[in-house]
Amino acid sequence: MLNFELKTLSWAQAAAQNASLLIVLLTKAASRAAATSEGPVSALVASAHSSGDCDGSAGKLLQAYALPGIRAQRVILVGAGEGTAREVSKAVAAAVAAYKPATTDKAPKQVDIVISLAALSTLQRDAMLRALDTTVQASASASYVYTTSKSKPQPRRLAKVTVGVSDARGLQEGFAHASACVQGVEFAKEWANRPGNYATPTKLGEAALSLAKGRSGVECEVLGPKQVAKLGMGSFMAVSQGSEEPLRFIVLRYSGAAKSQAPVVLVGKGITFDTGGISIKPAPEMDEMKFDMGGAASVLGVFKALSVLKPKVNVVGLIPSCENMPDGRAVKPGDVVTSMSGQTIEILNTDAEGRLILCDALTYAERFKPQAVVDIATLTGACVIALGHLRSGLFSSDDALAAALQAAGDATLDTCWRMPLDDEYAEGLKTHFADVANVAGRAGGAITAAKFLQRFASKYPWAHLDIAGTAWKSGAAKGATGRPVPLLLNYVVNQAAAQQNIAGAATKKVAKPKV
Ligand code: BES
Ligand code: MN
Ligand code: ZN
Repeated sequence: MLNFELKTLSWAQAAAQNASLLIVLLTKAASRAAATSEGPVSALVASAHSSGDCDGSAGKLLQAYALPGIRAQRVILVGAGEGTAREVSKAVAAAVAAYKPATTDKAPKQVDIVISLAALSTLQRDAMLRALDTTVQASASASYVYTTSKSKPQPRRLAKVTVGVSDARGLQEGFAHASACVQGVEFAKEWANRPGNYATPTKLGEAALSLAKGRSGVECEVLGPKQVAKLGMGSFMAVSQGSEEPLRFIVLRYSGAAKSQAPVVLVGKGITFDTGGISIKPAPEMDEMKFDMGGAASVLGVFKALSVLKPKVNVVGLIPSCENMPDGRAVKPGDVVTSMSGQTIEILNTDAEGRLILCDALTYAERFKPQAVVDIATLTGACVIALGHLRSGLFSSDDALAAALQAAGDATLDTCWRMPLDDEYAEGLKTHFADVANVAGRAGGAITAAKFLQRFASKYPWAHLDIAGTAWKSGAAKGATGRPVPLLLNYVVNQAAAQQNIAGAATKKVAKPKV
């Protein structure tokens, strides 16, 4: 686990820190002003500026070694333009990635770095908080290494990051949030990256149980096939019936507020491997369907972060988890199943399995009388076509909830984009043989999937995040991203703050004597 510390450090103080590497973040303004200040960092920045090598422009990077007056062996100056969250994120990611300690025996096995954000001291408080959040996130993700299924795991070289700012005390709360968020993101990444045979529904259940064990405020219960059958989750069971691995239904509870406060319920799609079932997927890239529990992983990640941060809010996490396999006993195209809600579903395509496990979890969510339910799922390839890999798809029947989720994502660079839910989109789900079909045509596939889910989410404000394009990266950088843990954590913590305000206002009213 990467260790973070926040310190009040000027450039001069940063120069005196003992570390393997000092990263100095520059803005254009700070770079220009350096000539008028004293000290070794200012001198370096001033000469880099006057030579034109690094003027604080976003993306410009300069490395130096063994500089007099600077205690760290290496220094990286990196430009962050005006200091927006996006620019800071890119700058930190580039600087941390550029730092590859020599792999000789002499090189230290573990390194610590100092990142100076002193140049950002002129930013408004909100912008500074976002820059800090982004610095913590970007340095963690640039140094993450996957280890679980390697015989000789490469250790994570980066052990500690000290972030230097001009007012550590004033930023402490934001810093605590950011470091808790990193722990959640890494937990989510770790589980999403694990191969299907390392991350079975059973193992996911065990991970959830151990997440709750010994942590006050977090409880976990894991249901198996018999209990799920008793609940009448016929849709969920139909997806699982072709697999040798038993299904799991994970119920997590985080209690940070009074029992009387309605919880936020997070529902995560936990397909630990999606072959497509009898409607089998083509072979190329099928391995990527081990990430089909990315929604579940993000719910686990949020709970990990909650257990560290302990905000005053109640949260329930629900994870239906199983494999989607072809088999002699597997569900067949055309089969009709009965969901927990009582609605019958014609399974026209067994590869549209995510919605089939989520719909029963959405019905189960009703018992918590939630203030809001958000489901998170790697649901459709169509969403990747619509929004690419940058923004998650956001669907909601509730404008306030949609706005809150969108804002929570914007603030932490874990963005989403609202998509429509006009009733006409549900036309294609009509069938002669059941109450609803599980697929419509190819057109608007991400929306018709959401329309299917909406039928099971009528009892509470509901939102759906389609993270098929954002939960993992393909190609050379193949791996889980840990998204949308930052968005969800932000949303949940904002709910805590909003409820505190309401509670505060109510107490004040009572305390005021009537005249
Ligand atoms: N897990 C997939 C969605 C997916 C596809 C995620 C590609 C990431 C990349 C989901 O279960 C699925 O197979 N959806 C089908 C739905 C279709 C049959 C209506 C799809 O998107 O093709
Ligand atoms: Mn599928
Ligand atoms: Zn799937």
